[in-house]
Amino acid sequence: MFIDSHTHIQISQFDPDRDAVLKRALEAGVSTILVIGFDLETSLGAVELAEKHENLFATVGMHPHDAKDLTPDVLKTFRELLNHPKVIALGEIGLDYYRNLSPHAVQKDAFEKQLDLAEEMGMPIIVHNRDAYMDILPILEARRGQIQGVLHCFTGDVELMHRSIEIGFHIGIGGIVTYPNAKDVQAVAREVPLERLLIETDCPWLAPQSWRGKRNEPAYVRAVAEKIAELRETSVGTIGEITTKNFNSLFKTH
Ligand code: NI
Repeated sequence: MFIDSHTHIQISQFDPDRDAVLKRALEAGVSTILVIGFDLETSLGAVELAEKHENLFATVGMHPHDAKDLTPDVLKTFRELLNHPKVIALGEIGLDYYRNLSPHAVQKDAFEKQLDLAEEMGMPIIVHNRDAYMDILPILEARRGQIQGVLHCFTGDVELMHRSIEIGFHIGIGGIVTYPNAKDVQAVAREVPLERLLIETDCPWLAPQSWRGKRNEPAYVRAVAEKIAELRETSVGTIGEITTKNFNSLFKTH
């Protein structure tokens, strides 16, 4: 059994065949799927979808790309949604210095406000980071012991992985680990303490090597688990079992 800890199956790319996608996931042994919001609309969409399916859970949050849209009203809506029984984390939130769609100061402000909210509500967080470890890690280090979560789609090196582990975070590994030239991610997948590992697809983006360039979907999280099992010289069943246990203890789904 596997859990896909990061998906965006609420978005329109899945409108034509969402039920078939969910069926293929179950057939591939993907028992639980976390649907991640990245702005107000997709957060509401994630909650709505999770209400319809027992094995789906949702998160709400404002992505750094749209940091400027985090108005007091939106923050209030997120606070209300965090009380919903199917909403198990705040995210994805963070910093993105690669695409720079919002100024850094605006991104940091939105990140801090949502970290305050997560702390207040006692919720774990889903962190998006692109080329911003130098700012994200100190921000999280300042809240060490007060906040937990996952650095999703981790692409840093082994040293950054160890710093993230030290401040209590989990490491989310996705389809990039299956790309032949992804040496850093493969080294991290080999060395991350097993009790801090989560697997994800980040679908519809970042499909594993066999489907690279095509639409990604939760069923393919199995390919991520298979690659990690190969790198660690263990069984895919072990990776599935441990990452499921990690997910359930971090997000308290039951
Ligand atoms: Ni994402």
